[in-house]
Amino acid sequence: MTDFEKKYYWDRRGSGCAKWDGMKMGFGADDLIAMWVADMDFRCPDSVREAMSKLAEMNTYGYNFPSFSYYKAFMDWEQKRHGYQVEQPWIRYTPGVVCGIYRFLGALTAPGDACIILSPCYYPFMSAVEDTGRRLVCSMLKNEGGVYTPDFEDFEAVILREKVKAFVFCSPHNPVGRVWKKEEIARLLEICEKHGVYVISDEIHHDLELTGKHVPTLSAYPCEKFTVMLTAASKTFNMAGLSHSIAVVPDETIRKKYDAYVKPFTGMNANMTGYIAIEAAYRGGEEWLEGCLKLLRSNAKYAEETLKAALPKIVVSPLEGTYLQWVDLGAYLKPSELKAVVQDECRIAVDWGHQFFPSESKCEGDRLAAEAGKADAHIRLNLATSRENVVLAVTRLIEAIKKRG
Ligand SMILES: Cc1ncc(COP(=O)(O)O)c(C=O)c1O
Repeated sequence: MTDFEKKYYWDRRGSGCAKWDGMKMGFGADDLIAMWVADMDFRCPDSVREAMSKLAEMNTYGYNFPSFSYYKAFMDWEQKRHGYQVEQPWIRYTPGVVCGIYRFLGALTAPGDACIILSPCYYPFMSAVEDTGRRLVCSMLKNEGGVYTPDFEDFEAVILREKVKAFVFCSPHNPVGRVWKKEEIARLLEICEKHGVYVISDEIHHDLELTGKHVPTLSAYPCEKFTVMLTAASKTFNMAGLSHSIAVVPDETIRKKYDAYVKPFTGMNANMTGYIAIEAAYRGGEEWLEGCLKLLRSNAKYAEETLKAALPKIVVSPLEGTYLQWVDLGAYLKPSELKAVVQDECRIAVDWGHQFFPSESKCEGDRLAAEAGKADAHIRLNLATSRENVVLAVTRLIEAIKKRG
């Protein structure tokens, strides 16, 4: 057991958390190992507890505003960890990164406009496009033995064919675990620039670098005129319940459009606890993050090596970033058998591969992605938990699959 796990692992059952206590609702059972929704079973950095304790001690919760030191903590973090200098006027609060996607789609595109994603993709991207009345189009990532890369020719062809207006980009990519290379990001951006496509870049997982080195989209290519970055401390430090995310918008014209778009949403200011906790995490959480990454890397290595050794035909995508392991069980199980084996027999709650593809009715522009989703036999395993839970889940999967011959 790593020191990090000893100090910070916490059995969250009974705390009202979605991940464990929400399983009854989502999966119809509460005795499963929770490896689905993307948050961690770890307490936050000590600096967060100290700052929140101070606030509780003060016990005053009147109107509040973000201090310069909050902005500075975020700007310093981005500069130090990712080499990108954010300027304070570029920063906007959003309650969540997904909420940010909805808002920027609303601000930058019109109903009926085509918006592109790289498929398979974190499913709220698809909902965001559709719920805002935009038209979802997909470009399938190329999958070679579990290693995914953009299909640049297809990406450009779809943009042209469908007259795409915005690209919702996931970097690092959930669910395939890629930390995109600078050249890959630059090539996508170059295509977007050529065809007048806005880029909404979701970089919520950017601190969760396991083997890859994250390159901020805004620094991969001169794209500040048509790109916004959405990020948060929520995935990095396990603080999603505070509903606090950040949009970085370097371009003044985009800022004006965005500010005008959100103006009617009154009462949507950030909660003071978010400002306080997030500043404390950025200022005092670096050592915590290093400990956490060490455990995540070790969990990922264990899961990949053990699964591959026992089940030679399994495809485990290399986990370069995020803590969400994308595993193809297609050599052993049909898509229709996944639930019976993984959930009912192994007692593991996971996200299913098909969730990350558009359903046929959703996919207007590209039927390939919908077809791939129907035939998909992936599961997405959340490894941000104790080694014991990871061992238990991996052991149960191997036993159940081997038993079937
Ligand atoms: C790529 C990605 N974006 C956004 C989110 C959710 O962010 P938020 O809760 O801030 O909306 C997640 C959560 O898993 C995610 O993986």
